[in-house]
Amino acid sequence: MIEVANLEKHYQADGRRVKALDAVSLSIAEGDIFGIIGRSGAGKSTLIRCLNLLERPEQGQVLLNGVDLTLLDSRDLQHTRRRIGMVFQHFNLLSSRSVAGNIRFPLELAGELDNAAMDARVTELLELVGLTAQRDSFPGQLSGGQKQRVGIARALANHPEVLLCDEATSALDPETTDAILALLADINRRLKLTIVLITHEMRVIRTLCDRVAVIEGGRIVESGEVIEVFLHPQHEVTRKLLAETGFYQEASQQAWRQHVQGPLLKLTFVGAPTLNPVLDEVSREHSVRFNLVNGTLADIKGTPFGQLLVSVVSSGLSLERLQQVFVDKGVHCEVQA
Ligand SMILES: Nc1ncnc2c1ncn2[C@@H]1O[C@H](COP(=O)(O)OP(=O)(O)O)[C@@H](O)[C@H]1O
Ligand SMILES: [Mg+2]
Repeated sequence: MIEVANLEKHYQADGRRVKALDAVSLSIAEGDIFGIIGRSGAGKSTLIRCLNLLERPEQGQVLLNGVDLTLLDSRDLQHTRRRIGMVFQHFNLLSSRSVAGNIRFPLELAGELDNAAMDARVTELLELVGLTAQRDSFPGQLSGGQKQRVGIARALANHPEVLLCDEATSALDPETTDAILALLADINRRLKLTIVLITHEMRVIRTLCDRVAVIEGGRIVESGEVIEVFLHPQHEVTRKLLAETGFYQEASQQAWRQHVQGPLLKLTFVGAPTLNPVLDEVSREHSVRFNLVNGTLADIKGTPFGQLLVSVVSSGLSLERLQQVFVDKGVHCEVQA
């Protein structure tokens, strides 16, 4: 369990004081994959680096299982940091060390295992991330995806409880990104590890995360379950981030709106109702004619959903009754401007 409360952080840049974090509070449950999304400069890296005190906030608490890291002396802090692994966008590998040597490095620093035990742990980690054959290769001989696998193995070496990922897939192509996201999901499941990841890509959040917080200008503007935030975004920033990925359509702002006749309904199907012929049933049972205007069909971490904009061309029911008919069939229904 990670809880941060009221974090404040400023930087001094070009004689100006920049507020990087503004009253940030978050609660991250054990075993969750928690995503933090925002644009460049929003404060994501600053926030994730505050979670292990690589960056020290001027105000606020950072609690790992109830212990406030900001109150620890440097020795205790060093010890506690071993329970928090970190993965970086540009991998940060030691080029003069082999794959095994890189993974072994944090074990050597911890100084708790003898040579044989360290080598055994390295073997285990290589297997976990699928790099057994690359044991003696050097970083310069690896692809981006392989380098990040080394980064992940190294971060896991000392059995952390939490893994922090700062844009871990942002330097990778889409296919390699998917493979790394699958590895992180597997690690989360198998090791019951809490993962906190920051990204500017909604796709990463949708594929991997259970919960998400949206950060803008150093403030958390929205947070919740991924499916809730994707389907019912509350904040302008979230809507924009979603619109860029083709998800959220604000009908009133679309060029085609003026050509659409009749009232417009936004229908949201999640889980079971996506498998039923709901539109067809409503159409037949209540003599309603629909025109499908826009929509998305996809899944969020394996849960299928659909979000459709339909115009009601003609209807035997009032709009209010029609809304109720959809609600009774388990479909969320909003009338759009
Ligand atoms: N070391 C630093 N010195 C001065 N300003 C910084 C420093 N690090 C970050 N900032 C500023 O703080 C804000 C948040 O930065 P950052 O946390 O890196 O955002 P993100 O990771 O979301 O792109 C930005 O305005 C950035 O320019
Ligand atoms: Mg960053």
